[in-house]
Amino acid sequence: MTATLIDGRAFAARIHARVAEEVARVKRAGVTPGLAVVLVGEDPASAVYVRSKGKRTHEAGMHSEEHRLPADASQTALMETVARLNADPAIHGILVQLPLPTHLDADAVINAIDPAKDVDGFHISNVGLLGSGQKAMVPCTPLGCLMMLREHLGSLSGREAVVIGRSNIVGKPMAQLLLRDSATVTIAHSRTRDLPAVVRRADIVVAAVGRPGMVTGDWIKPGATVIDVGINRMPAGVKDDGTLRTRLVGDCDFDSCAAVAGAITPVPGGVGPMTIACLLANTLTACCRAHG
Ligand code: GUN
Repeated sequence: MTATLIDGRAFAARIHARVAEEVARVKRAGVTPGLAVVLVGEDPASAVYVRSKGKRTHEAGMHSEEHRLPADASQTALMETVARLNADPAIHGILVQLPLPTHLDADAVINAIDPAKDVDGFHISNVGLLGSGQKAMVPCTPLGCLMMLREHLGSLSGREAVVIGRSNIVGKPMAQLLLRDSATVTIAHSRTRDLPAVVRRADIVVAAVGRPGMVTGDWIKPGATVIDVGINRMPAGVKDDGTLRTRLVGDCDFDSCAAVAGAITPVPGGVGPMTIACLLANTLTACCRAHG
């Protein structure tokens, strides 16, 4: 391996420490930042993420609430939950864990969240504010990626960036953030022709497609910085008790990419911890804005 490892865990720990200090300060002034996470259904991966968010929120000294609805919850029940949280002065951030069961209208739910409490940055008004270069609540995963890129590279101005994936959660906001930092940005996706050739142009590669090991070292320009957003759970044998052992892998084939890249984020321990750190930072920001 020749690439420098970008340590998301260590970076996230520094953000947690800063957030915890700031939380202690606002608590002394009489306000406790509060985050509510809404989980619909029993998806095990989502349940793991939600538990981990709750744990980190507590550790930072914030108020944390988890609202669970059954998998067959109605749109009305979910909208009522959001409306209650919008009206609750103890809650400064609301996150509805995605994906939602398919019978629910996710866009309607997201757009029902008070934009000032939309710590995911998914509400259409935050999307518009980000796209037009105004002060917005910025989605946590791309924000974490941007922070790691800035720390590793300094200025991103004029650099060729290729974002692989065009999701509303990662790909599109990531491209907006890179553009805001004056990178030259391409969004590649499943219909992109000759994807390896497009990626080979990039000084910065952000892979967010959800396909384990798709990006291989022969796609990477020597010295490029590779940010791997993929969190894919793969079978990795059977435990003594007969249950399946799994391991997390990214969208990049780590060994071959690390042999060519200048720097790369590992999975796990790269983007994942930064996402939660940025969620706490966004919640603190929402709280500080609410209390002037
Ligand atoms: N599911 C996967 N990533 C995210 C995220 O960043 N926010 C929410 N709400 N759901 C997700």
